[in-house]
Amino acid sequence: MIKVDRLTFSYSKNPFIQDMSFSVSEGEIFGFLGPSGAGKSTLQKILLGMLPNYQGSAVVNGTECKKHSSDFYESIGVDFEFSTMYEKLTARENLRFFSSLYHRQTQSIDELLQMVGLQNDAQKRVSEYSKGMKSRLNFVKALLHDPKLLFLDEPTSGLDPTNSRLMKDMILAEKSRGKTILLTTHNMQDATEICDRVAFIVGGQIFAMDSPHNLIMSRGAASVTYTWFDNGEQTASCLLEQISEDQQLQRLIRENRLQSIHSSEPTLNDIFMEITGRTLV
Ligand SMILES: Nc1ncnc2c1ncn2[C@@H]1O[C@H](COP(=O)(O)OP(=O)(O)OP(=O)(O)O)[C@@H](O)[C@H]1O
Ligand SMILES: [Mg+2]
Repeated sequence: MIKVDRLTFSYSKNPFIQDMSFSVSEGEIFGFLGPSGAGKSTLQKILLGMLPNYQGSAVVNGTECKKHSSDFYESIGVDFEFSTMYEKLTARENLRFFSSLYHRQTQSIDELLQMVGLQNDAQKRVSEYSKGMKSRLNFVKALLHDPKLLFLDEPTSGLDPTNSRLMKDMILAEKSRGKTILLTTHNMQDATEICDRVAFIVGGQIFAMDSPHNLIMSRGAASVTYTWFDNGEQTASCLLEQISEDQQLQRLIRENRLQSIHSSEPTLNDIFMEITGRTLV
């Protein structure tokens, strides 16, 4: 669905994105992960045909991005990083206006508003919306024409835990309807939960690309930590893959003396730091 080959792009004289290649298959949720300024939004804008001065190739849904015609947007939905609504119009007026821009029949505005819990705020001007309400409205704007490809820039940013959960469930529901989704995030937890594959991006470069599970497993060994009483509480740990070789643990198990035992794996955040030498903020 998306194929990027040797992509190079610069805002100034110095190349920012250099020689980047990756592809995204149909039905996949692919995440760009990286700190602020890494180039996540820039990459999305290139793929949306908004920054045509690139070298190399970026093909989205069969079209080279810089050569797209207006039909290109009939099958692509975008939820930008910042709200793109007319503040003086109500939510319903905004969605009606954006619906009118598509050739195809768009989805029911009332159903979309209901889906994100904004049915009672449909007549409110967007200027009176809170940040989280705007995020949800921008998300359903991207779904209006039921596009097969969705570009979501920081879809969970600024949402409270309940709305963040709702957003992630809606993204997964779109995936289950066969959509291809490309999203950006700083949030490793969200990425681990919903992305099939992620690319770690820092300074316009991809440092790693794989499923969150593979990235975690390939780099970090899971460990087991256990406690028992012996003149006060004692703690020890060993690698999960060497658990049968830990004589002390085996003895404690045989004697039923364990107070607690748990295994832990590194998080995607740990792996990001290990690979890129950077944190996500
Ligand atoms: N229109 C522009 N003109 C010049 N430089 C730009 C422009 N837009 C972005 N940049 C620069 O490109 C770099 C990457 O910006 P980008 O918006 O892609 O980052 P990002 O990864 O999306 O960050 P964030 O997580 O903060 O949204 C930054 O150094 C930024 O200053
Ligand atoms: Mg951004």
